[in-house]
Amino acid sequence: MYLKTHSLFLTLFFIAAATTTTIAAITPGSTLSASNINQTWTSQSATFSLGFVPTNPPTTPPTFIAAIVYSGGSPVVWSAGNSAVDSSGSFQFLQSGSLRLVNGSGATVWDSGTTGATSATLEDTGNLVLSNSTATVWSTFDQPTDTILPSQNFSVGNALRSGSYSFTLLNNGNLTLRWNDSVLYYNQGLNSSVNVSLNKPMLSLQSIGILQLSDAKLSTPVVVAYSSDYAEGSDVLRVLKLDKDGNLRIYSTSKGSGSSTPRWAAVQDQCDVYAYCGNYGICSYNDSNPFCGCPSQNFEMVDPNDSRKGCRRKVSLDSCQGSATMLTMDHAQFLTYPPESESQVFFIGISACRGNCLSGSGACFASTSLSDGTGQCYIKSEDFVSGYHNPALPSTSYVKVCPPVDPNPPPSLGETVKEKSRGVPAWVVVVVIVGTLVGLVALEGGLWIWCCKNNKRLGGLSTQYALLEYASGAPVQFSYKELQRSTKGFKEKLGAGGFGAVYRGVLVNKTVVAVKQLEGIEQGEKQFRMEVATISSTHHLNLVRLIGFCSEGRHRLLVYEFMKNSSLDNCLFLSEEHSGKLLNWEHRYNIALGTARGITYLHEECRDCIVHCDIKPENILLDGSYIAKVSDFGLAKLVSPKDHRHRTLTSVRGTRGYLAPEWIANLPITSKSDVYSYGMVLLEIVSGRRNFEVSDETNRKRFSIWAYEEFEKGNIDSIVDKRLADEEVDMEQVERAIQASFWCIQEQPSQRPMMSRVVQMLEGVMEIEKPPAPKSVMEGPVSGTSTFISSNASAFSTVAASPYLPSSSSSFHISGVSTSASGKNTDKATSSLLQSIP
Ligand SMILES: *[C@@H]1O[C@H](CO)[C@@H](O)[C@H](O)[C@H]1NC(C)=O
Ligand SMILES: *[C@@H]1O[C@H](CO)[C@@H](O)[C@H](O)[C@H]1NC(C)=O
Ligand SMILES: *[C@@H]1O[C@H](CO)[C@@H](O)[C@H](O)[C@H]1NC(C)=O
Ligand SMILES: *[C@@H]1O[C@H](CO)[C@@H](O)[C@H](O)[C@H]1NC(C)=O
Ligand SMILES: *[C@@H]1O[C@H](CO)[C@@H](O)[C@H](O)[C@H]1NC(C)=O
Ligand SMILES: *[C@@H]1O[C@H](CO)[C@@H](O)[C@H](O)[C@H]1NC(C)=O
Ligand SMILES: *[C@@H]1O[C@H](CO)[C@@H](O)[C@H](O)[C@H]1NC(C)=O
Ligand SMILES: *[C@@H]1O[C@H](CO)[C@@H](O)[C@H](O)[C@H]1NC(C)=O
Ligand SMILES: *[C@@H]1O[C@H](CO)[C@@H](O)[C@H](O)[C@H]1NC(C)=O
Ligand SMILES: *[C@@H]1O[C@H](CO)[C@@H](O)[C@H](O)[C@H]1NC(C)=O
Repeated sequence: MYLKTHSLFLTLFFIAAATTTTIAAITPGSTLSASNINQTWTSQSATFSLGFVPTNPPTTPPTFIAAIVYSGGSPVVWSAGNSAVDSSGSFQFLQSGSLRLVNGSGATVWDSGTTGATSATLEDTGNLVLSNSTATVWSTFDQPTDTILPSQNFSVGNALRSGSYSFTLLNNGNLTLRWNDSVLYYNQGLNSSVNVSLNKPMLSLQSIGILQLSDAKLSTPVVVAYSSDYAEGSDVLRVLKLDKDGNLRIYSTSKGSGSSTPRWAAVQDQCDVYAYCGNYGICSYNDSNPFCGCPSQNFEMVDPNDSRKGCRRKVSLDSCQGSATMLTMDHAQFLTYPPESESQVFFIGISACRGNCLSGSGACFASTSLSDGTGQCYIKSEDFVSGYHNPALPSTSYVKVCPPVDPNPPPSLGETVKEKSRGVPAWVVVVVIVGTLVGLVALEGGLWIWCCKNNKRLGGLSTQYALLEYASGAPVQFSYKELQRSTKGFKEKLGAGGFGAVYRGVLVNKTVVAVKQLEGIEQGEKQFRMEVATISSTHHLNLVRLIGFCSEGRHRLLVYEFMKNSSLDNCLFLSEEHSGKLLNWEHRYNIALGTARGITYLHEECRDCIVHCDIKPENILLDGSYIAKVSDFGLAKLVSPKDHRHRTLTSVRGTRGYLAPEWIANLPITSKSDVYSYGMVLLEIVSGRRNFEVSDETNRKRFSIWAYEEFEKGNIDSIVDKRLADEEVDMEQVERAIQASFWCIQEQPSQRPMMSRVVQMLEGVMEIEKPPAPKSVMEGPVSGTSTFISSNASAFSTVAASPYLPSSSSSFHISGVSTSASGKNTDKATSSLLQSIP
């Protein structure tokens, strides 16, 4: 009885098979058409079949892919060209020997590009092989799409692809996952106890569920991963698949079950997959799954039906009303992987991480400050970011948006309120609300009265005071309204510095000024006033003069004299059409000397010794007669000479390329650190080139290193700015300047001269010995951890290479140890303070 039904079944099966399938060898001329999805080419024992299957998810009108499918459960293991055709499409084995997928319109969508193949065979392993009479010409195992089957070999040069994601094997046996063929979000090497350099590594999945790597140099294959159900069950097909979500998984499919279960995933945390939630998408987890959201309600989904498509700003940054601001996201991180990590990782503190991004006009879109002890900040300089939010993440992220910031509502607020009010009688709620309202009204009234009184005292008289005080040299206190009026509502922006923008203004007495709007100041009013007092009591021909300030509510502004000829970097590095005029040698020499005198005054001659901490061309301004004026001094912590040894850094900062080695090595910062920065600037004044510039002309060395080599060879001419070739140049002054600059950039602070000695060197009143070679920060090891150094070195070297970093965002803030500081958040990195626009 049993036998009978069985054979009857078999007979039926063969009749069915004969009518709808072509078994085993496929001959040239055979065609499958998308209009009949029941028509397939199957393998010998019908384990796999090749035919058209509807795309998943379904589309209207329906489209199809030509795919190899596992009959026991229907996962697609290969598809022709990963492309879909309409219902009139066909898949052909041509007489010429190639396989071709044709569109309904007759267009070739995909072609195997083979010639001379006389037969095609779908093997029971799932491999579709084209062969001629003697050899295999082509096979799907060599041309995988997104899946690897057992007995398939995956080697260097093969790739799995799915959407924008790809999986490849490196020569050293590392498995890598990339997005857009660039961002490397997974790079897994072999167990470090395997210490051989591989020959021709090959990855394969054993049918029992073990992913392994074999190589001629390895005595036995190395296990990469076990699927969680390895060696269990019978008739289980296991495949390795790169999913559309960018993760690489092993799936198990029990024959006949029709469904597949993931048994291993390469990236354990799905939110770590780059761009999983698209651009500006924020990946997080609900109870069970990763899901995608937007940073705030300043954003909207690109496609409300598919949250993985990412988000976009409702108002683009170009059309902000007012200046952009930063949205704060706690416990959030913007993913930063190679190669982006090369140029986007900085060692700066949290407020600099926010502030540098905000001021890096246009070239920074978001940033992440890590609180995991690494001291790192990711500056996202491209308008494509991938976010991850998780209460366990020790990081804070910022996104540039147009004001006002409109945060996402807390997810479960509605429920908590409901739950709480359930247990509380209604009258209690009423009493509390009424009480709160009364309190608020009273408070507001009090504030109002207080404000009016204050205003009468300050506001009413301040303009008159202003002019009187200005004349007497004391700093003038302006009201915010006044400054708003004099800058015509902060309209004419001169530049944007580290912590705030600078605007042009005209005071009541027609004085042209530069108003700097400090951003993110958290220090108290009293400390701010104390600093202002110190700064404004520092007068010198070569220092920019502070005229006044405003400290009102959260507003902190500084008013400086206006400098007609902008900053030194504009005159030195910009091409002539931008800067208008090339600085001649006489001007350069006077600027060098003037700057040195200004710094000498700060270091040695004024009451409190001031370490500038950020000497660079951007902070050296030029007035109408090209007299150098050092700007942005005194906003750093004031260092009294006595305290040098015991000083704790409250705010340390500086700019890459000009930072003395002790910054990187975390050693005490003294006035000698300014000397180092000045030395770099001096070299730039002579050469017209950035000290960290690297080019073929400098043998791929940093300019300052190369310049010393030239100096040793006696080639002083090659260091001097080529644009000065036709001008009159006092070579004796040049030689003095070059020697002085090499003395200034010595690695050991004690070897560097005092600033007053530098002035003497330049003036020629003192003999200059030949300077020893300045060691490179990047070449010579400096104390400190190696990761710290190397990462900083990469930050240094990318300055010239990254066109995305504007001069202002190359400011390099280092967060201090103590936070009580007066100068903690003040902006000392303003690169373009008081710059005039051409
Ligand atoms: C394919 O086969 C199924 C049942 O086996 C049948 O219902 C369907 O009509 C067939 N489709 C075509 C296009 O022949
Ligand atoms: C296939 O043809 C249709 C129109 O016949 C066209 O819209 C579609 O873009 C084509 N697809 C490909 C992949 O060429
Ligand atoms: C078969 O293909 C192989 C590899 O492409 C080629 O070397 C060989 O000449 C072909 N043989 C015939 C008979 O075409
Ligand atoms: C995979 O590699 C192994 C070892 O090199 C080899 O024996 C086997 O034939 C290869 N399989 C295929 C399908 O090429
Ligand atoms: C993806 O890569 C291409 C080519 O490298 C590049 O042009 C494009 O900007 C990248 N896309 C994004 C969103 O970064
Ligand atoms: C290989 O992977 C290891 C991590 O397992 C990583 O440290 C190493 O840098 C990778 N090698 C290459 C060449 O990417
Ligand atoms: C690496 O291999 C050694 C010895 O083969 C083993 O003891 C160790 O657990 C392995 N480590 C990992 C992370 O697999
Ligand atoms: C790996 O092998 C090389 C030489 O074969 C040896 O110099 C090196 O120390 C080894 N590394 C480890 C981690 O064992
Ligand atoms: C979690 O998110 C997934 C995908 O968005 C959704 O299908 C599921 O219902 C959500 N679960 C809960 C408990 O919210
Ligand atoms: C989202 O889906 C709805 C209903 O399925 C549809 O009406 C709407 O057009 C879709 N929106 C987009 C942007 O695709």
